[in-house]
Amino acid sequence: MSVDQLTSDDVNTIMDRAEFYKGRFKLGKDKKVGGLNGRTMINMFFEPSTRTRISFEQAAKRMGMLVSNIIADASAMAKGESSIDTIRTLGAMNFDVVILRTPQSMQPYELSTFTSSAIINAGDGTNEHPTQALLDYFTIQKLGMDVKNITIVGNIIHSRVAKSNTKLLLSMGYNVTLVGPNGWVPEPKEWNIPEEQYGQLNIGTHLRDVLDVSDVVMTLRIQQERFSDTHRGLIDLKDYNKEYGIKHGMLRDNQFLMHPGPVNRGVEIDEDLVYCPQSVILDQVENGVAVRSAILEHVLT
Ligand code: CP
Repeated sequence: MSVDQLTSDDVNTIMDRAEFYKGRFKLGKDKKVGGLNGRTMINMFFEPSTRTRISFEQAAKRMGMLVSNIIADASAMAKGESSIDTIRTLGAMNFDVVILRTPQSMQPYELSTFTSSAIINAGDGTNEHPTQALLDYFTIQKLGMDVKNITIVGNIIHSRVAKSNTKLLLSMGYNVTLVGPNGWVPEPKEWNIPEEQYGQLNIGTHLRDVLDVSDVVMTLRIQQERFSDTHRGLIDLKDYNKEYGIKHGMLRDNQFLMHPGPVNRGVEIDEDLVYCPQSVILDQVENGVAVRSAILEHVLT
């Protein structure tokens, strides 16, 4: 449900196992590793997804699981069945694990009370995206340099990726700087960050002021679809790009650029820099399959 539920031992075990799976999932190799043969998983996505849904499906199939997908619009939910009745119905089919993506913050907690299946949060509203944070942490560990300072830039207040990453990275000892327009960065209390971690956390409004000390710059998708709920001030996308977009000459050779995807090209990152030499965006995607295999193994065994 949340990165808060993970001990550092859990995280380290998942990282070790993800390393193993990454080695087994190389192009041209037989990727069927087994380990969860005959166990069952359903992807239940009430919001669009490419990376999370497909990487969970691939992770599960490579481990020998039997996988189904339910898309809200093409299910009985389109005929008015509630999400609670849907999860009860799927529970009756004895799925071992449900991967849930929902626009409703905290819905995974609510639905978990109506099923005996394990639920893995694949992103709930503006709350959390814990498996994204784990794959991002894995990617940071693989950068081949001593990373200490991570800057997360953008629409922080609406970003479940920022929230899960901030909490996980702080708990694993990194310094995290959150940068965004006024009103787009929450107070640490809003995310229940423990007071003893406040010294590792910086808040800024100007990306250029903090670039020098950033080993990694994690950019975030501007989620225009979320502006209507906890609306804290709209901004013109061109103005946003001028102040917070990644542009030519901004990053040093030994800095890294991350983005959970999908990228609004020309907004968070200039068009021709999405896959620049500093970009590890596709490494994040590749690592997602290995990390989610390790997560399935951790949850189910
Ligand atoms: N990073 C991420 O959650 O991407 P998708 O929406 O494509 O799953």
